[in-house]
Amino acid sequence: MTARILDGKALAAAIEGSLHEEVEAFATASGRAPRLVVVLVGDLPASASYVAAKARAAARVGIDAEVVRATGSCDTASLVALVRGIAHGSHGPVDGILVQLPLPRQVDTLAVLDTVPADLDVDGFHPENAGLLSQGRPRFIPCTAAGVQRLLVDARIATAGRHAVIVGRSDIVGKPLALLLASRGPGGDATVTLCHSRTTDLADHCRAADILVAAVGQPGLITADMVRPGATVIDVGINRVGEDGGSRLVGDVDFAAVAAVAGAITPVPGGVGPLTVAMLLANTLLAAELRIGRR
Ligand SMILES: NC(=O)c1ccc[n+]([C@@H]2O[C@H](COP(=O)([O-])OP(=O)(O)OC[C@H]3O[C@@H](n4cnc5c(N)ncnc54)[C@H](OP(=O)(O)O)[C@@H]3O)[C@@H](O)[C@H]2O)c1
Repeated sequence: MTARILDGKALAAAIEGSLHEEVEAFATASGRAPRLVVVLVGDLPASASYVAAKARAAARVGIDAEVVRATGSCDTASLVALVRGIAHGSHGPVDGILVQLPLPRQVDTLAVLDTVPADLDVDGFHPENAGLLSQGRPRFIPCTAAGVQRLLVDARIATAGRHAVIVGRSDIVGKPLALLLASRGPGGDATVTLCHSRTTDLADHCRAADILVAAVGQPGLITADMVRPGATVIDVGINRVGEDGGSRLVGDVDFAAVAAVAGAITPVPGGVGPLTVAMLLANTLLAAELRIGRR
């Protein structure tokens, strides 16, 4: 079997196309573009490239994005003050605030994220937004989880009654995705198993999956013998490998071998990553529309 490749890049481009029209309609109604402020701390090359990609995508759909930088030696108090200031308009009108992770080791990440007001929390990390998602009435859904569900729906991969196995239980990806896939409605109604580093018999759990999602950050973790023939495999992992210090991107799945067994598979790059960015833009537009009562 050779798996169908689930092209996240093409789907993200289509989503951007319709967002562009909705952003124009918003600007006509409100007299301004939706506005996103991204906080970039330190000089990690990966973070800088993710932020640049988000800013470019925002510009493509007509969202005004500003990147605010802070030095890698900053402390929790100064970052909290910066985010609080942005929320209160220190960098102009704002509909969404995103703090690019990871933050430097000395910073209390949760303290900084908790400073982003729930109505500006386009990453969907605020406890209020996490709570709304867990109650089945989501507002801002964490972008990667939303992107995975969107990809499954677009590819017409049935989730209702199917067994979804997610490897990775982070607050950012695994946990919200488990809630989404188990929620009622399109792209939901799955029976979900959530695996992590303490899971015993990981391979057995994975082999039981109709839909297998890897969100770990470990290249080659998912091998062909862990995949049921015909299963859908979604690779969220982004790992930098290569002898030149990591210029090549790979996921958590042994792509070539698993593609020979799976029914459908996402590539890395070009799978989940572009959808994460598209969902961020959608959340920013939603935040702007909620602000002026258009939704
Ligand atoms: N494509 C995208 O847009 C996108 C977006 C976000 C993240 N990512 C990528 O997705 C990956 C995961 O990100 P994250 O933020 O969720 O990472 P994270 O916070 O480090 O969480 C990793 C999860 O994997 C689990 N894990 C670690 N080793 C394992 C093993 N050997 N077997 C089973 N589970 C194991 C951990 O278990 P414990 O909880 O027990 O520690 C944890 O739940 C990373 O590669 C990241 O770069 C991609």
